[in-house]
Amino acid sequence: MCGIFGFSGKQNAEEILLQGLKRLEYRGYDSWGVATTKPENEISLRKEVGKIPAFDSTQKHTSITKTHNIGIAHTRWATHGGVTQINAHPHFSTDDSFALAQNGIVENYQEIREELSNAGYKFVSETDTEVIVRLIEREYESILKSQKENETNLFAAICSAFSKLEGRNTIIVLAKNSQEIIAIRNGSPLVVGKSAENEIFLGSDYLSFANRTNSILELDNNQGVIISSRNGNEIKMFSLNSKEHGEQINFLPVEFKTTEMIDSTVDKGEYADFMIKEINEQPDTILAATSYVEKDFSELTLAAKAAKKVYLVGCGTAAFAAQQIAYYMRKLAQVEAVELKGYELSSYREIFGEKDLMIAISQSGETADTIEAAELILAKGGKLASVVNMQGSTLSRLSHYKFFSRTGPEICVASTKAFTAQIAWGYLLAMGITGKFAEAKENLENASQAMQTLLNSENLHKQIESVVDLSLDKEHFFVLGRGLNFAIALEGALKVKEISYKHFEGFAAGELKHGVIALVQKSTPVFSIVSHDETKADMLSATAEVKTRGATTVGISPENNELFDYHVTVPNLGDLAPLVNVIPFQLIAYSLGKKLGNDVDKPRNLAKSVTVK
Ligand code: M6R
Repeated sequence: MCGIFGFSGKQNAEEILLQGLKRLEYRGYDSWGVATTKPENEISLRKEVGKIPAFDSTQKHTSITKTHNIGIAHTRWATHGGVTQINAHPHFSTDDSFALAQNGIVENYQEIREELSNAGYKFVSETDTEVIVRLIEREYESILKSQKENETNLFAAICSAFSKLEGRNTIIVLAKNSQEIIAIRNGSPLVVGKSAENEIFLGSDYLSFANRTNSILELDNNQGVIISSRNGNEIKMFSLNSKEHGEQINFLPVEFKTTEMIDSTVDKGEYADFMIKEINEQPDTILAATSYVEKDFSELTLAAKAAKKVYLVGCGTAAFAAQQIAYYMRKLAQVEAVELKGYELSSYREIFGEKDLMIAISQSGETADTIEAAELILAKGGKLASVVNMQGSTLSRLSHYKFFSRTGPEICVASTKAFTAQIAWGYLLAMGITGKFAEAKENLENASQAMQTLLNSENLHKQIESVVDLSLDKEHFFVLGRGLNFAIALEGALKVKEISYKHFEGFAAGELKHGVIALVQKSTPVFSIVSHDETKADMLSATAEVKTRGATTVGISPENNELFDYHVTVPNLGDLAPLVNVIPFQLIAYSLGKKLGNDVDKPRNLAKSVTVK
């Protein structure tokens, strides 16, 4: 959801802010805005609906702002209020003395808005964000009644207003008179970077400025920073002691740390879209995700063996990876592991305990529902492990055992390479628990080569195109999987749904006769994922049952079968079959989406990082 960026330095702020926003665009992409200023100047605000443009120095507005060297910016994924220029952030104070952008949802915005409206405050947008702006104004006015006007009053008003917000909110404020950026984090992420030239960057993730510095300052919840451009970009870091005592501010030592350099390349290279680039990176990324030595897993292995129960938690695609990993833990390592959706926690609240282990799976490490689950297990005294792709993200910072997918940035909103990286990691963990770490590594090497051969295969692309042509004028599709491939049926269906906007539904093949078969009519496309495992015979029976009722069958399988009307050939990889079985769905999603004229990297209504509940 939403991305925040801030900059203070000697360069043209608008140019740097637009570049930063572009790198954050994956977090939300319906509208955007930048606010910049310089001493003795008004704040210049530019807000637009649509995609973030490349910086263009010839545009008229840039001549006004090109000397501005401090500013804030925001890319929006609308929650409260439609996609309009007025609702885009940043939002101005009534006297234009500050501008504010937010990432999160003010859960008590209705109460605050009503209270402020009754007190005479005027609102111009429909957003929950504007409530924060007006609240700061009210707090400022009440501070003024008891004190003389001074520049720290706005800071005090911001802290006071922030303490009254409910929900996970991170805000960034540009103050005209003091020439400062004031930012406070709660829930939604915020990372500060400092370059060798003493430029300061603030971003919703480290990736947004990873091309400029790897010296970072991570903020915990209820911590914030003040960046003063007038004082040579001096940084003050503070914490608000508790939500109840928001005005109680403690200043903290500022300690930047050098983080592992990540592959920060955010370009498509030779590819037309990030999605197809990322699909093609998978032979490498499954190896990067499993480039651990056995010792790296020893503590987690002990914790998994000692745990009363292991919970694998995620949302969306990451939940399907969690499901696949739980399957591996049970099947390959005989560990009692269950998958759990981050947003379906309520019945577990009293069940989690100190003997449990949670393994959180997330590309971003910032998914609000997954973080809530992680916080709950920690509060119950349990252990937390995570496998995330983004360095410095909240989940990894919360974890006792931290692992990284190391796939490089995944920009396409639909997850592909992060998914296969996560399940490859889970396979290594499960095999390692039973002392087969070296064997798992070898199997993963072979899987990587098989994946590469598959992606290079002309036959595969021909088979995919036949299935895509079949699918163009159909609306409802079913995907059947079982055992080893149950999670792949769900993920495969999600992938095509996200990119083609067609109704793909994944089911456990065992469910078919219990109801799902009622949906099958003449020519309904039904995909069956059939591997060489103990479910093969049942999968073929399920395929026969839908074919008998008129379905057009598509087999995803190492070999063809007379039951398949269409066949997509995948290699036989034993327990690692899920790694290649998901690829046909990724490619169908891509090709179908392109043929239908959809934006495959930025599908409608979706955001890459779901940081609100
Ligand atoms: O960053 P996370 O992996 O925690 O994100 C979880 C889901 O929001 C994400 O997988 C989502 O389902 C993607 N759109 C899937 O393609």
